[in-house]
Amino acid sequence: MAVVGRVEDFPEGKARAVDVDGRPVCVVHLGEQFYAVDDICSHAHYRLSEGEVYAEEREIECWKHGSTFSLIDGRPRSLPATQPVSVHRVTVTPEGSVDVELGTRR
Ligand code: FES
Repeated sequence: MAVVGRVEDFPEGKARAVDVDGRPVCVVHLGEQFYAVDDICSHAHYRLSEGEVYAEEREIECWKHGSTFSLIDGRPRSLPATQPVSVHRVTVTPEGSVDVELGTRR
């Protein structure tokens, strides 16, 4: 478990890149929910955190070739990516700190 910032560091509706124990992770804040997936696309070495977030679909789009990934289970929703990205557990403490636990789901 690593503290990656405070709630106010993560603008609502946006993705932000963080480092968790040397691993690039993309954290997304949507309403009351926080999501964390691997920041490197499963198709090629590009950062998902630089892509667009689709709040209603709970997805993020890789800017390079346009695959979208579920923020809930990490699975690609469109080609060319065919492999999922790992999903990590996010906890917001009562004090407002945002913690990420690596590798809890894939
Ligand atoms: S690098 Fe992400 S879809 Fe190709």
